[in-house]
Amino acid sequence: MSMRIRIPVENDLPALAHLDAEAFPAEPYPFYVLRQFFDLYHDHLLVLADGDTLYGYIIATWPRNGVSWILSLGIAPDRQGQGLGRLLMAELLMQLRSERVHKVHLTVDPDNDRAVALYRHLGFTPIGDVHKDYFGPGEHRILMTLDLSDSTAPPPKTPPSAPSATVKSGRTGGPRPFW
Ligand SMILES: CC(C)(COP(=O)(O)OP(=O)(O)OC[C@H]1O[C@@H](n2cnc3c(N)ncnc32)[C@H](O)[C@@H]1OP(=O)(O)O)[C@@H](O)C(=O)NCCC(=O)NCCS
Repeated sequence: MSMRIRIPVENDLPALAHLDAEAFPAEPYPFYVLRQFFDLYHDHLLVLADGDTLYGYIIATWPRNGVSWILSLGIAPDRQGQGLGRLLMAELLMQLRSERVHKVHLTVDPDNDRAVALYRHLGFTPIGDVHKDYFGPGEHRILMTLDLSDSTAPPPKTPPSAPSATVKSGRTGGPRPFW
């Protein structure tokens, strides 16, 4: 199996709807909403795919004033807990950073331990307490934010005298090793 992260094409939409319904059985997006996300967000909608088979997807808004929202992240149930959610988040965050996004926001169900753990491990922090009825009666959410402004700074210049072996950089030169 060779999975890769790519931008979906129109023919992926039925598989994307199927994946979304598997990942969010209680409240899947109607097909038309996914269609609109596809049309609106273009390369801020990424899928993790092996050919036509989709195992995960993530959607972020276009940045506005340097701020982007993650709208959804879903992994096929039989592939959860294998690092794929983290992989998709890392890829999207790297992309947002390259677009000079300085803040990323998202919402998460307080009972969704795995998702909360993932976001915390990626550096997201809660904004305030649980926001009661955020998505309607009984639909409480934690709002979380990640400050990318540090990592959008250019990598520090290496003094000419510093031996190159001592220079540490991640994939894009930022301080966070995971994107
Ligand atoms: C939430 C979800 C996106 C996470 O993706 P995943 O591929 O399953 O998660 P990963 O394997 O990448 O693990 C992510 C983190 O969660 C932690 N984690 C894994 N299983 C866990 C569990 N059962 N309970 C708590 N934390 C757990 C891991 O420690 C990991 O963090 P680390 O890599 O820093 O150690 C995925 O499980 C999913 O699609 N769930 C259903 C839909 C959903 O709830 N989406 C999120 C909406 S906000």
